[in-house]
Amino acid sequence: MTARDAHWIVGPGALGRLIGLSLATRRPPIAVTLIGRRRLPTEQALVTPRGDTLSVSVATATLDSLPAQPPDVVHLTTKAYAAEAAHAALAPHLPAGTPLVLWQNGFGCQPRLSQRHDGPMLCATTTEGAYLEDMASDSRVVHAGQGETLIGALNNTLMDGRPHSITNELANALATTLTAAGLPACVVSDIRQRLWQKLAVNAAINPLVARFRIRNGQLRDRPFRPMVEAIITEVAAILAAQGIAPPAGDGREGWRTLVWRVVEGTADNRASMLQDVLAGRPTEHEAILGPLLAAARAHHLAATRLAELADWLKARELAGSADSC
Ligand code: PAF
Repeated sequence: MTARDAHWIVGPGALGRLIGLSLATRRPPIAVTLIGRRRLPTEQALVTPRGDTLSVSVATATLDSLPAQPPDVVHLTTKAYAAEAAHAALAPHLPAGTPLVLWQNGFGCQPRLSQRHDGPMLCATTTEGAYLEDMASDSRVVHAGQGETLIGALNNTLMDGRPHSITNELANALATTLTAAGLPACVVSDIRQRLWQKLAVNAAINPLVARFRIRNGQLRDRPFRPMVEAIITEVAAILAAQGIAPPAGDGREGWRTLVWRVVEGTADNRASMLQDVLAGRPTEHEAILGPLLAAARAHHLAATRLAELADWLKARELAGSADSC
């Protein structure tokens, strides 16, 4: 990956726009094309965490009319439930060997796309905070909170166990590029663990706050606190069976520490799944709860609370309404 590489951002929601506009405002700027279902304005604005507004000109396109010039790297930044359809629409137009970076939550589309994509594939997980402002003009993203991005390959070894040099080189180059664009990134050798760790936090927070329409911090109080604890018990047992450890500490206590730390740190937030419910959009429940429920079935473990929340989120979507409480 070089400074002259062309980056396609497919699925330019808040995160995609943050990545695209950060790359495009880098010096020297990187060629970025924002590709969505509808064409976005080419004049975009990025509001930095310090409150400065940067004006950025970028190329834009749609999945139905892609640029003639192929990209050097594709960032898939759609919601998890839309990633595979977007990849299917894109794949016939990509030269073999085009690197793909997946930015989805959960652990659903990543293993499946790693089987399908004809080229090196990286996964990224980020704690950068961003939201779209002025939805009417569709041209302004706010970089609300500085975070950290971890990048790695799911299948990082060759048949004989040696590290895959192309994905390693690519991961290092991408981390350097993102860091230089103001999005600090590092390469990790255990991205599968990291994706599951984020999934565990999301599973303990997102469905409950969406179900009860509360801010994250309200989970600390009754009647929600025991509900979070019960979910952590289920998640800890499932992840132990899957061989996934918490980032610090052991077993259930390690997961408790992580979840309550994130609740504390994001107490005022309306979590992403709550925002989706309030806006009447689909949620990422399949990508977040689906892998946990599948693992629970495979290991013959009870996951009553997780299953109840998944059923509620599914029923809400089938009813086609944000108000099917
Ligand atoms: O999905 C989200 O909103 C975030 O991942 C988290 C950690 C739940 C905080 O709001």
